Amino acid sequence: FHILAVASEMYPFIKTGGLADVVGALPFALGELSTTKASIVLTTLIPGYPVVMGALSDAGESDMVLALPNYFGGDAQIFRATVKGVALLVLDAPHLFNRVGNPYSDASGMDWPDNPVRFAALSLAAAMVGWGEVEGYAPDVLHAHDWQAAMAPAYLHFLGQGKHRPKTVLTVHNLAFQGQFLANIFPKLGLPPEAFDINGVEYYGGVGYLKAGIQFSDAVTTVSPTYAREICTTKGGMGLDGLLRLRGHAVSGIVNGIDMAIWNPATDAQLASTFDEKTLGARQANKHAVEKHFNLPHSDAPLFCIVSRLTWQKGIDIVTDSIDALVAMGARLVVLGTGDQALEAALYAAVAKYPSHVGVHIGYDEGVSHLIQGGSDAILVPSRFEPCGLTQLYGLRYGCVPVVSTVGGLADTVIDANDAAVTAGVATGVQFHQVTREGFQTAIARTVSLYAQAKVWRAIQHAGMRSDVAWRRSAKQYEALYRGLLG
Ligand code: ADP
Ligand code: GLC
Repeated sequence: FHILAVASEMYPFIKTGGLADVVGALPFALGELSTTKASIVLTTLIPGYPVVMGALSDAGESDMVLALPNYFGGDAQIFRATVKGVALLVLDAPHLFNRVGNPYSDASGMDWPDNPVRFAALSLAAAMVGWGEVEGYAPDVLHAHDWQAAMAPAYLHFLGQGKHRPKTVLTVHNLAFQGQFLANIFPKLGLPPEAFDINGVEYYGGVGYLKAGIQFSDAVTTVSPTYAREICTTKGGMGLDGLLRLRGHAVSGIVNGIDMAIWNPATDAQLASTFDEKTLGARQANKHAVEKHFNLPHSDAPLFCIVSRLTWQKGIDIVTDSIDALVAMGARLVVLGTGDQALEAALYAAVAKYPSHVGVHIGYDEGVSHLIQGGSDAILVPSRFEPCGLTQLYGLRYGCVPVVSTVGGLADTVIDANDAAVTAGVATGVQFHQVTREGFQTAIARTVSLYAQAKVWRAIQHAGMRSDVAWRRSAKQYEALYRGLLG
């Protein structure tokens, strides 16, 4: 059967975070499930940003499958093509998407002021394809990702009456980003007046895109079982917990997998030296390369790393507040990331203070992110909340031991190296409960002492590399969800 996915980013075309990785991996993961039943064909609708239009024209063949004249302030059209093995629909709306910058903001980091219109346009396009506007295509399920696509189920509900009605799934990758706008946006959305209601798209007096998606989707998923529980509580619900609780069993959590071909230390071209479980010694060459990249002298001291958006969510302030302690424990740190200017400045200050212990690369660099995983000893993910998290999964696969807080997907994917787990040989990382300086520093101290026990450390690396982080298990859960909806 046919699934129409819709999202604002998709690897390898455009990526600002984990959302792109997941949206890019799902078509393959679902396609590879070889069941005896009907196969799943997933097509993904994404906006025609310049890089996407470029990829489309490089790919050669593409069909214009839907003309959308005067669409949210300009002429638009939808193209269909297979690009890099991925079935795509592309919403080409130059007045909305042909811009320099990232999907959400201009080059200076300011959100595009017309974001509510841009992503309403994406969502309505998905709904229209969903109800059958593209000849010969009637998807069985419309699967929307995050707030940028979350109005699609609402459009289906209000404008799709009497038309083909696919089942709808909304996946929430991060409840912190809700697409909440002032009421004056409502008249631009093309919805009937009755949609502006507490049982519609209205949210605290304005319009809530994610709220609307949660309201109107047949199923709501998030990216780990623990996060699914957390968002139904007042503490983790960010204002939406009441509605999420109302949806009850429609809400579930499916943990993300990783792309095992792109993230494979045995074949990774970004590494100075490839390796696997049996040749962990070869990581040493990567450690040298990481040290070189970050201008650190070589040392046998443990090398911690971070690959992350530099934000409050990710607990980066706790790290910058703990640099003295970390260095005092004999550890070193390298950071690859971009984000809040205050955090970037604090990291630069740490480099100035400890030039032979701390290295920072402010920027976004896919290749360096691979090398870091292959050469550092441990990856720090001290998030205050984390729907799933992918970097700890890459760490597991690359023998880069994750040190994580016990929230969301971090709780679900790492096994703490407590005595029982170490004795049983199942420990894969280090966890801590209190996301505070004290909690974090205690975890660093534990990690440094585990690192000093070479045999124990090796065993933790091995168990991590053996843990099942592939998509297969999760893809089966999505498949079961789709089939369940279709009855
Ligand atoms: P989130 O989506 O909340 O940012 P995830 O851990 O799910 O967090 O995904 C982050 C993704 O972005 C990972 O693939 C990670 O490797 C990548 N990433 C984050 N920052 C950078 C960076 N500065 N350079 C390269 N890759 C990065
Ligand atoms: C979001 C979350 C992250 C998750 C990613 C992919 O960006 O912050 O935890 O891994 O989406 O689902």
